[in-house]
Amino acid sequence: MKTIQVRTEIPGPQSRALMQRREAAVPRGPFHATPVFAAHSEGAIIEDVDGNTFLDFAGGIGCLNTGHRPPEIDSAIRAQLEKYLHLCFSVTPYEGYVAVAEKLNTLAPGKFPKKTLLVNSGAEAVENAVKIARAYTKRPAIIAFNDAFHGRTLMALSLTSKTHPYKAGFEPFPGDVYRLPYAYCYRCSYGLTYPSCKVACASALEDAFKRVVAPESVAAVIAEPVLGEGGFIAPPKEFYAIVTEICREHGILFIADEVQSGIGRTGKVFAIEHYGVEPDLITSAKSLGGGLPLAAVTGRADVMDSPGIGGLGGTFGGNPLACAAALAALEIIENKGLLARSTQLGRKFEERGKQWTKQFQIVGEVRGLGAMCAIELVKNPATREPACEETRRIAEYCYEHGLITITAGTYGNVMRILVPLTVSDEQFAEGVDVIESALAHVSANAPQKQLVPSNS
Ligand SMILES: Cc1ncc(COP(=O)(O)O)c(C=O)c1O
Repeated sequence: MKTIQVRTEIPGPQSRALMQRREAAVPRGPFHATPVFAAHSEGAIIEDVDGNTFLDFAGGIGCLNTGHRPPEIDSAIRAQLEKYLHLCFSVTPYEGYVAVAEKLNTLAPGKFPKKTLLVNSGAEAVENAVKIARAYTKRPAIIAFNDAFHGRTLMALSLTSKTHPYKAGFEPFPGDVYRLPYAYCYRCSYGLTYPSCKVACASALEDAFKRVVAPESVAAVIAEPVLGEGGFIAPPKEFYAIVTEICREHGILFIADEVQSGIGRTGKVFAIEHYGVEPDLITSAKSLGGGLPLAAVTGRADVMDSPGIGGLGGTFGGNPLACAAALAALEIIENKGLLARSTQLGRKFEERGKQWTKQFQIVGEVRGLGAMCAIELVKNPATREPACEETRRIAEYCYEHGLITITAGTYGNVMRILVPLTVSDEQFAEGVDVIESALAHVSANAPQKQLVPSNS
C-alpha cells in the first residue's frame, strides 16, 4: 500500500487557518518549504493537521537521519525525563554530556587525543570552533569558501556566502573573514575541468597567502566537506588533502563543518572520512540530537583546551534530554547499519537520476555522496542557466503530491534529498516517483529552449 495519502487540497483548511495565525503572530523571516502544519510524525512519514500523509524527504533539514521518533530515542528521552531535565553542565555536571563527548571523540577521524564541547545549534558550534581556533593560534583571520553556509548568527553569517536572503541587510559582519571559490566543478570559478585542472581551487589557498591575507594572520580554514545549503557539492577526492597540507605548512587549523554532512548522511559518520584527512576541529549538529537540539565541536585535545576555564559554555548546551537522544541516535546508526544504508540509498537515487539527465533537459547534474544527494536544475544543459522558478515549481508539485522536499543552491536551483536513512525501499521508490512526475510536469510546461552548443 502507498504511504502517501493526499485527501484534501494542499494546504488543507486546518493548515490554512493555522497559517493565518502564524502570519499574525510570527515574523515573516522564518521561511516554510511547505504550507502544511504537522500533526504527527513517525519514521519517514508526516501526517498533517488535515489528515494528509506525506513522505518526508527533508528530515527537518537533515536532522532525522535516524527517522522521526524511533522507539529507541523515544524510550531514551522518557527514561531521562524520569531523572532530571535541566541542570546546566556549568553548575551541576551529569554523565550524559560526558558520554556524548566520549562517543564523538571516538567517532571523529584521527588517532590523537580529542575533546568535545556541546552546544545547542550548528551556528553556535561554528561560533565556538572559531573562538577555539583563535585562542589556540592567537591569530584573527578565518578563510571560508564561496557557496558556504555556516549559520545565521553574526560570526557564522560572516562565514556564510549567499547574500539573499541570508546576509543582505544584516551588515556589518565581524571582520577578518576571507573567501575563496569552492570546488564546484559544475560551475568552476576558474573555468577549468577536473581532472585536468589539477584541483587548482585547492592550490589557490597558497596563492591567497600572497594576494589576500598573510598566512601568519590566519587561524583556520573552515569548509563543509560536502556543501549543504550551497547545493550538495562534493569536491574531487584530492581537494581536502591539498587544502589541509597547505594549512599544516602554515600552522593554520582546518575546521570541517559537518553540521549537515555528518552523523551518517554520506555513508560515513563524518563526510570528511571519504577524503582521508583528519580535521583539527569538527562541528556537528542536526542529526546528532536525533530530533532534539544538540551540537558539538570535537577536536584535538590540545586545541580544544586552549580557551581558559569559563571561556566556553552556555546555559543549555548539552541538555540532558538531547544527550540521551544523541546516545540513542548514534547507537541506532551503528546497530541498524545506517552507514551502509546511506550508501545504498545514494546509489538508488543516482541510478534513477542518471536516467533523468537523459530524459529531462532540465536536469543539469545529479550528484552527491551517499544519501546526501541532489539534482541541479538548469534551463538548458548547454548554458547551465539556473532554473530557479522551475525548481520552486517542482518542490511545490512534490508537496501537493505528498512529498516533502527542500531546495538548495546559491541560485536556488538544486533539489536536495535528506530522507531519513530508515526509510523503506518502497517508501523511497514512492518518493522518487513523485520527483520524477514533478520533473515531467515542469518539463511539459516549460517553454522549450534552443540548445546552445557548449565546449564543456
Ligand atoms: C553546514 C552547516 N553549518 C551550520 C549550520 C547552522 O546550523 P543551525 O541552523 O543549527 O544553526 C547549518 C544549517 O543548515 C549547516 O548546514
